Amino acid sequence: MNKNKISIVILAAGKGSRMKSPKAKVLHSICGKEMLYYIIKTSREISDDVTVVVAHQKDAVIASMSRYFSDIKFVTQDALNFPGTGGAMKNVNIKNERVLVLNGDMPLLQKNSLDKFFEIQSDIVMSIFELENPSGYGRVIIENGEVKRIVEQKDATKEELKVQSVNAGIYAFSKKIIEKYIPLLQNNNAQEEYYLTDVISMARNDGIKITPLLVDEEEFKGVNSKKDLSDAEIIMQEKIKNSLMESGVIMQLPSTIYIEDGVIFEGECIVENGCRITGESKIINSHIKAHSIIEDSIVKNSDVGPLAHLRPASNLEDTHVGNFVEIKKSTLKGVKAGHLSYIGDATVDEGTNIGAGVITCNYDGINKYKTTIGKNVFVGSDSQLIAPITLEDNVMVAAGTTVRSGTVYSGELAVSSSKLRVIKDFYYKFFAKK
Ligand code: UD1
Ligand code: CA
Repeated sequence: MNKNKISIVILAAGKGSRMKSPKAKVLHSICGKEMLYYIIKTSREISDDVTVVVAHQKDAVIASMSRYFSDIKFVTQDALNFPGTGGAMKNVNIKNERVLVLNGDMPLLQKNSLDKFFEIQSDIVMSIFELENPSGYGRVIIENGEVKRIVEQKDATKEELKVQSVNAGIYAFSKKIIEKYIPLLQNNNAQEEYYLTDVISMARNDGIKITPLLVDEEEFKGVNSKKDLSDAEIIMQEKIKNSLMESGVIMQLPSTIYIEDGVIFEGECIVENGCRITGESKIINSHIKAHSIIEDSIVKNSDVGPLAHLRPASNLEDTHVGNFVEIKKSTLKGVKAGHLSYIGDATVDEGTNIGAGVITCNYDGINKYKTTIGKNVFVGSDSQLIAPITLEDNVMVAAGTTVRSGTVYSGELAVSSSKLRVIKDFYYKFFAKK
């Protein structure tokens, strides 16, 4: 298909009151990215002329989408004077001969399904699905196999409410249809809005054929509530994980694993049950054990967990990280940190062992400081490293030591524990008194 022959308009100006949220509906996230992001991404695969109609919280919508896309147009709807999906089309300028109108609240739309709208040669193609409970949707009135009009829930008669064919809300129009009928829309309906759906009945009255296209309910279901949002997220999770498994990732109990859009896997990777991997994380030839959390981090030739937490900007290579270890903004290369540690704002080099309960004290309440640990260092259990601090190569820190800011030089042992006192029969005296 010729990418340049189609324009796409995405309606994203509505309030989305049913979300019960101060945030614009289209900015709610699914698998780590805003709903609108997915629709624009799919649209860009089809068209070079993508327009997003904004109004409600327009600055926030434009700002967040501009982080991902530089080549889309934003048009502002005059929502005060021309509310409604038809009002949203008023200021839109269409470059190509045909235009696909999408809703900003349909994050699951796939390119293959949208291509079908253009395989049909017709001035108006509209999406339909059949629902046992059509509540909330515009009903499609079909007579003698032909679409006559769409009636909104709030305008429908008792008889019309029973109709189970509903308008999925996606249409392909010839440019001339939009140019002719959008200016003619009226708002004499229950919501006093300008309905895009009225284009259908107006065109039909002029003898223009409306072609219905049956679409997949799951994919074309709009997200209107937070329940819909979580339903859509479950579906998208399944897609993300299925595609990762197809590309070679091993997953145990995938239904318990959460992996965000954009996480990259390379080589042979295993992800055990209960893991959460988010943001710009990249996992290469590694084993992520049960219930670990990895955020915006890189893990290469390593094993992590169970129950480990890599916070943003952690970078692991040839490293073993065991249970209850938290790492933040740190680079570990060839390191073993087996148990119960916090490693923050640190670099740790090859052959180094971080004992159980070691903590980098990186924060003094005002500023954060760096910890630098060299090669073949042995940090004994339950030690605190008060940053800024450097442990050069070949250093030992005795168990239970507090190393204050500064440098421990190569070959040195740092030990701060005081001499052990032993008091004879103390135990018996102490408890006998109680
Ligand atoms: C719309 C259809 C309905 C269809 C349903 C499918 C109309 C009048 N009704 O209803 O027939 O069954 O979609 O999901 O078109 N929007 C704007 N500006 C506005 C109002 C809405 O840009 O003034 C945008 C919204 O951000 C959203 C889309 O249009 O992305 C749909 O709006 P929504 O309020 O969800 O429409 P429905 O009432 O669901
Ligand atoms: Ca909707």
